[in-house]
Amino acid sequence: MQKTITGFSKLSKSEKIDWIVNSYFRNNNSAKTILMQYWNSDSKLQSLHDEFIENTITNYYLPLGVAPNFLINGQTYTIPMAIEESSVVAAASKAAKFWFDRGGFKAEVISTTKIGQVHFTYDGHTKELISFFNSIKSKFFKDTSSITKSMEKRGGGILDIELRDKTSDLTNYYQLHATFETMDAMGANFINSCLEQFATTLKTEAKAFLTGNIHIIMSILSNYVPDCLVRAEVSCKVEDLTENPDIAPQAFADKFIQAVNIAEIEPYRAVTHNKGIMNGIDAVVLATGNDFRAVEAGVHAYASRNGTYSSLTHAEVNDGVFKFWMEIPLALGTVGGLTSLHPLVKLALEMIGNPSAKELMQIVAVAGLAQNFAALRSLTTTGIQEGHMKMHLMNILNQFEATPEEKETLISHFKTNTVTHSSVVDAINNLRANK
Ligand code: MEV
Repeated sequence: MQKTITGFSKLSKSEKIDWIVNSYFRNNNSAKTILMQYWNSDSKLQSLHDEFIENTITNYYLPLGVAPNFLINGQTYTIPMAIEESSVVAAASKAAKFWFDRGGFKAEVISTTKIGQVHFTYDGHTKELISFFNSIKSKFFKDTSSITKSMEKRGGGILDIELRDKTSDLTNYYQLHATFETMDAMGANFINSCLEQFATTLKTEAKAFLTGNIHIIMSILSNYVPDCLVRAEVSCKVEDLTENPDIAPQAFADKFIQAVNIAEIEPYRAVTHNKGIMNGIDAVVLATGNDFRAVEAGVHAYASRNGTYSSLTHAEVNDGVFKFWMEIPLALGTVGGLTSLHPLVKLALEMIGNPSAKELMQIVAVAGLAQNFAALRSLTTTGIQEGHMKMHLMNILNQFEATPEEKETLISHFKTNTVTHSSVVDAINNLRANK
């Protein structure tokens, strides 16, 4: 069995698949059939996707769903969400409708600053380095002018560059810590290009002016963006919080707030609580062609900013008004990257009105807050499994290759019966046995 190969990337797509089928599937052609089933018949569209990454062998589908009825700052949105988890879009839609009838969501962008760093060592005197940095600071801006020109035209650019002395943490370690405004771009390429030029400038100037040696370690943006913050909020009178006669509004509010308080002080719960928020956030981030790994990393770092991992959302009742809110860092773009390349990303952005990056930050934050509201509402009332398993029912039915008729019968059966994996299996077996 072949397991290593040189020159794999040079093979054609078919040759790559043949090698995989030969190496890992004992030349069983059903593996090849599955891979090829997902190829798009439109060869232009397929080659566009092939070229997004290296060694593409097929496409990996995720459902793209929509959650309608989101009222955000007085404007109605249908939010596109790409996600595999069955209950997420349903939960978002439910929360959207709930808050639509109660004034909707308010969202505001607090700040949009991004950060990048050149990490380097210097083996001379700190004082000498500081005065050298101050004397050449303007050169960093000058040497990057061809990179920053068009960003500056759009209102962005390099905001500041600082020299940071980190020698008390790591021998001889310093940073150029730079802040950026990247407008509607996520800005990773812009920031990294600027940083690499800063490193070149630093090295070149150092040769002429410093007695010690500068050694550049690396130049890279930070995905921790605590100054690229958005706030989302909902509020209503406590008495409007539930229409369910079995749940008193004040008792619901108290239990809901207690659930948030637990996530504020208990990391085991906070991680799951925030995971629920990320269900909404990642789905919109992915649908709009943004980098969900960057968002995840930045959001979780922010959730630990006070030294303990904690809830991103908060809730309170004040003067009879229930308020639920969240502030999170989100570095998003609505230009560049996949935004104008991937046809579904283009379509998703158009569906939400071709937003600016700031507007997208608001929409994404609202999706996260809505998701957390829906999860906490279920958890503190019916329990999560009722809704979850109802949505998961279809997955189990598909696993057992239920026919459309079987699906119809069983969906109707489970409207009034509890869905568990074994109850569905029993029901399918009974149905089939009684045929
Ligand atoms: C499941 O994907 C997300 C939840 O666990 C979130 C939460 O517990 O708050 C339901």
